[in-house]
Amino acid sequence: MKKARLSMVVVCLLVICISLPLSGATTISVDREHPGAKIAPTMWGLFIEDINFIGDGGLYAELVKNRSFEFPDAMMGWSKVNEDPKAGSIVVIQKEKYEEANARCLRMEVKKDRAEVGICNEGYRGIGIKQDQSYYFTTWSRTSEPEMRVRVEVVAENGQTLLSGKFTAEAGNWQHHCFQMKARATGMKGRLIVTAISKGTIDLDSISLFPENTARQMYGRMVPGLRADLVAMMAAMKPGFLRFPGGCIVEGFNLATRYQWKKTVGDLDDRQVLINRWNIEFKHRLTPDYFQSFGLGFFEYFELAEQIGAEPMPIINCGMACQFNTGQTVAVEKLGPYVQDALDLIEFANGPADSRWGRLRATMGHPAPFNMKYLGVGNEQWGPQYVERYQIFAKALKEKYPDVQLIAATGSDPAIFPNGPAEVDYLWSQWRVLKPDIVDEHFYRPADWFYHNAHYYDKYDRQGPKLFVGEYAAMSHFVGSPDNRNNLKCALAEASFMTGMERNAAVVVMSSYAPMAGHVDGWQWKPNLFWYDNLTAYATPNYYVQQMFSLNRGDCELPIKVTGADGMLLPASACLEESTGQTIVKVVNPGADPVEVALVIDGIKQPGAGSQALVLAGHPDDENSIREPKKIAPVQEAWNGADLHYTLKPYSLTVLRVAE
Ligand code: AHR
Repeated sequence: MKKARLSMVVVCLLVICISLPLSGATTISVDREHPGAKIAPTMWGLFIEDINFIGDGGLYAELVKNRSFEFPDAMMGWSKVNEDPKAGSIVVIQKEKYEEANARCLRMEVKKDRAEVGICNEGYRGIGIKQDQSYYFTTWSRTSEPEMRVRVEVVAENGQTLLSGKFTAEAGNWQHHCFQMKARATGMKGRLIVTAISKGTIDLDSISLFPENTARQMYGRMVPGLRADLVAMMAAMKPGFLRFPGGCIVEGFNLATRYQWKKTVGDLDDRQVLINRWNIEFKHRLTPDYFQSFGLGFFEYFELAEQIGAEPMPIINCGMACQFNTGQTVAVEKLGPYVQDALDLIEFANGPADSRWGRLRATMGHPAPFNMKYLGVGNEQWGPQYVERYQIFAKALKEKYPDVQLIAATGSDPAIFPNGPAEVDYLWSQWRVLKPDIVDEHFYRPADWFYHNAHYYDKYDRQGPKLFVGEYAAMSHFVGSPDNRNNLKCALAEASFMTGMERNAAVVVMSSYAPMAGHVDGWQWKPNLFWYDNLTAYATPNYYVQQMFSLNRGDCELPIKVTGADGMLLPASACLEESTGQTIVKVVNPGADPVEVALVIDGIKQPGAGSQALVLAGHPDDENSIREPKKIAPVQEAWNGADLHYTLKPYSLTVLRVAE
């Protein structure tokens, strides 16, 4: 009897020993028995603002800058190829009333037989052409000559012709031309040259060149779509939502330069060019040639969101210009048209095809509604004027569209705007009473702040408004600094903060890094999620962090406890993926040494078949670049073993998928 009892004790001790972590290991306990809040499908999203040439010069695939000569300096981006006045002349003429969206065009006159007159477009920091790809050249022409011949070429920096073609204009009013050219070679910084080669006068307008693989039909003709590789970069993150169009772009320097969605829809030629607010915002990064053509307007935005499976989330101007600039504010009694714009936007997105704005959507090619569910009222607004205007918007919007969830702002990052913390406290005191559906917070802070604030949202009221972490990014220097880096250290700091968002899925329902991307030769703001030149794009470590969270979102968060980490913080979160039954653990090791962790998950003693580890690791200063696009990239490996021990690499984010 005694012997039997003894062997029972030995067996029990053995069982306990096997299930205990090895000594020295950090324990990560996950409570699968008590799942927490649902994780919103919108948790990890993307935010597009036309900064850093994300719109024109980036996503919008038009390769010609100032295609309709509507920039304030009509010839910006263009130069004359033949300056000999005896051969001919080139002038920009006013063809319509000054206020019209497309008021000007180019007039080229060839004065002599066998003479030529041409113009050259520099593109957006050059024109990128890829060998063997096809490109569409389109333009409008008008001439009174029986026949005017025009040559079109894209020439590389070394003088090599990359693309070439010709068209002939005939006498009459405006004619549309469209033809394809196949690239003979690749060039990063080509120039488009359009040359009149017969004697006579010809007017040209809307001179456009774009890759065939982006082409889309609109009003019966080919128009530029969105750059495929950049859309692919966005889609690969599987974002839950797409916020648009800003950011400060929404607000404008003043109300005249605010973003007005109605001016961004309909025929391309009717979309009035507007100065991009990032043109002159940073004195150290002046970008005098930055204008918005609105080729990527609200229709294209809704289509893009649909294409990549993201919920659209427009932000609308609430009658206030940027409070870092003029802060111009519309009088309350004059707010009506602004509120109407918001109502009409919902009708444009969701209204039936026979409603006024729904009809425009249908005419543009999308009869079915876009099913928009979220709308932000104002971007980085603050003060009682904002609260007053928000209430007017909310009343009108909720009356007509009670199901559209409204997002209210809390100003900018409290660390950077005048009297920030007090302003944010004031806004929160109002939001607690007014209860907008969702409240938007922004953080541009040092990496250490993000690392130490993995528990930031633990204290937030579960009964209050839901949270949208609408803009955040770790700064290696300081906000606005051109020296900020997209390095692994910053990415891991963001990952730490994101574990806190996931653990607080009960309050945090959406988040987006900002800004989304930057052109390597045309940026104003650093850091950015991904970068591109005229030919390729690469993801930063920060992008991979976002992607690792988004592709491993899970359905509900699981309580998690990290113990014995030797005084070091190991930010971590856990969730359950219902379709696979897998437990997903995300953990950051911010230190220089490997850390051995022992997972304790009820009912699971070892990684089952299909368990995986996805690891992003390297040196904290490591960055990716056009030359080394994958210096830092996640590596996936099967995870098997006799127990749930795993060794975290130094400076790493690890996503462990544990199958039963
Ligand atoms: O993300 C860049 C800018 O930062 C956004 O336009 C603005 O909302 C914030 O201040």
